[in-house]
Amino acid sequence: MMRFDVLTIFPEMFRGPFDVSVLKRAVEAGLITIRVHDIRDFATDRHHTTDDYPFGGGAGMVMKAPPIFDAVTYVREEARREGWSGNADVIALTPVGRPFHQRIAQELAKREHLILICGHYEGIDERVHEHLVTEEISIGDYVLTGGELPAMVLVDAVARLVPGVLGAPESLAEESISSGLLEYPQYTRPATYRGWRVPSVLLSGNHQAIARWRRAMALQRTYWRRPDLLLRAVLARSDADPLSEMVVLPEVQ
Ligand code: ADE
Repeated sequence: MMRFDVLTIFPEMFRGPFDVSVLKRAVEAGLITIRVHDIRDFATDRHHTTDDYPFGGGAGMVMKAPPIFDAVTYVREEARREGWSGNADVIALTPVGRPFHQRIAQELAKREHLILICGHYEGIDERVHEHLVTEEISIGDYVLTGGELPAMVLVDAVARLVPGVLGAPESLAEESISSGLLEYPQYTRPATYRGWRVPSVLLSGNHQAIARWRRAMALQRTYWRRPDLLLRAVLARSDADPLSEMVVLPEVQ
């Protein structure tokens, strides 16, 4: 059982992604809890202000510290009232954070409670990062309008690793990125479509040959598309054959 609390100024953005498919089923099955909170509810002034001008001047607005601190305090207290231990990690989604990776998702899936802060505008008051946040995560080297989509990405990637959320746990172990290789190609019926035939080995019923073919395809794809992954992948001695076939040898004079 794992709990996610998302703090955002756009809670309505989360309607949808968490209400369908795997995540919806996981929530209904009681495997995960996802709560979305409006930071604006924790702003105490008449206009519920969540941002202000940057000290020192400059373009854009900065998200104020007090509503975010108060929102996290509220979430911690609510979680404790509901029987959670109160050991929540506080993660800020920001382009200056640690690049997200399957390994980080695996690490986070072992935690009990994550509080996610979605940043906006030119950023969040640094005191939030210094004194409240335990981890800063970026989902890639590109800039989005806010941390909401990154928070959804993180919740999705972590929640599917929580035991029971995916039906078949073996599909996790086999998974491309986890093993360090890209996934092999998949096919389903019809066996011939517009004249394009499914590789015959997949119809052969020879499980050993199928496994060999899939491994070769995974190696081949990784070699051509993501050679950076291949450098770090855990390879077997038997992988040398399909790999050597792909290597373009220099012509001998
Ligand atoms: N906020 C804006 N862009 C982001 C990114 N790439 N990752 C995480 N948070 C962000």
